[in-house]
Amino acid sequence: MRIGVLTGGGDCPGLNAVIRAVVRKGVGTYGHEFVGFRDGWKGPLENKTMPLTVKEVRGILPRGGTILRSSRTNPFKIEGGVERIKANLAELGVDALVAIGGEDTLGVATKLTDLGVNVVGVPKTIDNDLNATDLTFGFDTAVNIAMEAIDRLHTTAESHHRAVVVEVMGRHAGWIALHAGLAGGANVILLPERRFDLADVIAHVQKRFEIDYSPIIVIAEGAMPADGDMVTVTGELDSFGHVRLGGIGNWLAQQIVQQTGKEARAVVLGHIQRGGTPSAFDRVLATRFGLAAIDAVNDRDFGKMVALRGTEIIRVPLIEATKELKTVPAHRFAEAEAFFD
Ligand code: F6P
Repeated sequence: MRIGVLTGGGDCPGLNAVIRAVVRKGVGTYGHEFVGFRDGWKGPLENKTMPLTVKEVRGILPRGGTILRSSRTNPFKIEGGVERIKANLAELGVDALVAIGGEDTLGVATKLTDLGVNVVGVPKTIDNDLNATDLTFGFDTAVNIAMEAIDRLHTTAESHHRAVVVEVMGRHAGWIALHAGLAGGANVILLPERRFDLADVIAHVQKRFEIDYSPIIVIAEGAMPADGDMVTVTGELDSFGHVRLGGIGNWLAQQIVQQTGKEARAVVLGHIQRGGTPSAFDRVLATRFGLAAIDAVNDRDFGKMVALRGTEIIRVPLIEATKELKTVPAHRFAEAEAFFD
């Protein structure tokens, strides 16, 4: 078979590990051939290809980012986009695609499957908010990066009697905030899933200062106070209609300064959480996903996504992955609040 591989959406540590596993097993075990599509769905749309042999995937396991590059192009938003993709795949003799991506990329994969394109999906996002898989690769690395930052911030905060607000990624889901906050011993953890009471946060910060303790507040980029809306709290939205990175973190640090008279700083981790080398856990998960994805292609089991369920890698219908976001469930809010006393 001739198989196309693409990576779409925001990059994520472990993408290269998936590509490597797909190609190594695809060539070595099954004797398939590969075409690399560059820049997500823009690749098959504009015939942007690159060779993808065992040689290209040598040495990429520890490398962050994606050798195939990425984009947020959605062919369904482009006039005649889908027809162009189908024609290009036919012209290149590509029988099947492995699409590695998050909600948007896999959403396109789902629709293309319905239109007769042979696709197998691989879930990725540092946010861990994809449905139908217990975990996504990239999440563990992002949490470790944020945890290390929080560890460092504790010592500088206490030396200067300051509060530090650490803003982590997570527009709709607070998985990174919850796990990094727990791992880093944060005093307050604020998630997008539950609006927070600013007065409670301020009272807690004040209480901590009274016992000579410099509080660390971890906040997800999409968290909001109970009585604020995104625009008034964070200023203008960006050109995609999203809250600006740093908007809520800086706002909260300012509120702490104004309402407690203490010093506060905001640290916005942003894309540092996405870049660089994957953790061992993410390398293994990404590799297992890649191996399972090429097995699914080889079995011609299309319209499926590989997923982690417990400790096993299973196949689920692609539609399962994208029907809703996996946010932090209510029963886990107590973990975020346990140190908020
Ligand atoms: O999907 C991962 C993510 O990192 C989100 O947490 C974040 O809101 C978004 O991507 C940022 O996207 P961009 O790279 O387009 O700024």
